[in-house]
Amino acid sequence: MAHRWTNDLTYTDVTPKAAYLNRRQILAGTVGLGAIGLAGAASAQGELEPNTLEEITSYNNFYEFGTGKGDPAKNAGALVTSPWSIKVDGLVDNPGEYALADLLDGLTVEDRLYRFRCVEAWSMVIPWNGIELADILNKVGVQSGAKYVAFETVVQPENMIGVQRRVLDFPYVEGLRLDEAMHPLTILATGIYGEPIANQNGAPIRLVVPWKYGFKSIKSIVRITLTDEEPPISWNKANPREYGFYSNVNPNVDHPRWSQASERKIGGGLFADRQDTLMFNGYEKEVASLYEGMDLREFF
Ligand code: MTE
Repeated sequence: MAHRWTNDLTYTDVTPKAAYLNRRQILAGTVGLGAIGLAGAASAQGELEPNTLEEITSYNNFYEFGTGKGDPAKNAGALVTSPWSIKVDGLVDNPGEYALADLLDGLTVEDRLYRFRCVEAWSMVIPWNGIELADILNKVGVQSGAKYVAFETVVQPENMIGVQRRVLDFPYVEGLRLDEAMHPLTILATGIYGEPIANQNGAPIRLVVPWKYGFKSIKSIVRITLTDEEPPISWNKANPREYGFYSNVNPNVDHPRWSQASERKIGGGLFADRQDTLMFNGYEKEVASLYEGMDLREFF
């Protein structure tokens, strides 16, 4: 399918030519797919420096496998990812239980280099491979009454130590407004650096919404529901005062227990300077219109 979002920036706009060529080589070598062209509004924060695969796969939040940052890498090997199917239901023309390969058949996997900002004030830059969620929703046919999309993570109690310990109310659930879900920046990721997504990152398929806090990016999805009501989401259920449905990255709206004005980039080293957090995580130009007229403090 055609890309519906084309960035007006490329690396040549923001990066000296030598660094650009060097990056092309790095990405061509590591990803095997050539340059990653969709850098987002890269100029706002200088060039985007991708984190290493090692960093991306060793510092995780996946509470089904424990609450420590190293727990998912240690424990998520137990996740069974094949066969995998996704139940699509609610206000859709073609509901059903789809084998993952059938659901994605014929759709284009794209390279997307995105900033990733956790609500805990750390960040990474991740070269995802994924499919625009809109392509999948169009394939199953969204009915006119649908206003939201709800997502659910798999529960494999025998394989998930965090589920056994009930560290959160499982299954992990998330949701987006339909226009957010249909936005061309929103993808379902199946890979990182051209490799199948690691279990601890949400194999075999997880949501990525780069202008929202990382907890919106629900992992290991087994159900997608089109609905006319705002769906419940895990972190809001756990603590509604601290975690809102929208959770757009916003340096001007602090978490009740910490500032959101800056962030620590993972891999920067213990003494690296914190960097300023950008409105909508640097994707303001692309997504601000979705929230025109909305009070972003009330709808946090
Ligand atoms: N999805 C599920 N099912 N369970 C989780 O605990 N954690 C969220 C999100 N998706 C989480 C989840 C949070 S808080 C973050 S910051 C990101 O996943 C972390 O993604 P990463 O580990 O791939 O960096």
